[in-house]
Amino acid sequence: MSADAIARLDELRAEALACTACRLSEERTQVVFGDGNPEADVVFVGEAPGQREDERGVPFVGRSGQLLDQLLGEVGLERRDVYIANVVKCRPPSNRDPRPDEIEACKGYLSEQLRLIDPKVVVTLGNFASKLLLKTEAGITRVRGTAYEWWGRYLVPTFHPAAALRGSAQVLEDMRYDFALIRNAIDGNLDREAEEAETEAAIKPDVDPEQLGLFGG
Ligand code: URA
Ligand code: SF4
Repeated sequence: MSADAIARLDELRAEALACTACRLSEERTQVVFGDGNPEADVVFVGEAPGQREDERGVPFVGRSGQLLDQLLGEVGLERRDVYIANVVKCRPPSNRDPRPDEIEACKGYLSEQLRLIDPKVVVTLGNFASKLLLKTEAGITRVRGTAYEWWGRYLVPTFHPAAALRGSAQVLEDMRYDFALIRNAIDGNLDREAEEAETEAAIKPDVDPEQLGLFGG
């Protein structure tokens, strides 16, 4: 990452910390901009800060974060090897879902984070991040299990760790499959042809950078 990009990412953080572009600014304790290595090969995108994250100003520090750390460890990654951010940077009251206008107001920060960090692999955790970046209405259960070619990099959608904490052992097993895909994508070990065929067979993500405002130029 160039010195310019690092300076711009710091500037963007400062902008976000002062942001009042949506109603989530009213009840937040802290803005949770993002954390980790700006030189990372992989960026994880969650949904929204929870209570712990709102208190500490750092993403994924509660129970979901512990599970995320464990899954990272199982494929030989640590926090310092990755960058982590969320779709919305401020905690929705009582952990309700982020609303469409809040996502709209906030998505420019995520877009710029991804552009500046320019990772090999983007991992979307759960429905909100996956639907936003793959620009699909299809649910996470349908889209996960595949590494998509996405703007010159890979996008790997998987469940949100909270779903594994609430859900069955199968959810955790599926996440382990997806984390193996992440590892292979980072290492350049995905068979592109096979992956492309799989993408055809799976859901076709209707990605439109113009409408999404991501990498649209
Ligand atoms: N869940 C999220 O989606 N993001 C966090 O930062 C913490 C929990
Ligand atoms: Fe600004 Fe995003 Fe926080 Fe809304 S959620 S106030 S858009 S930083």
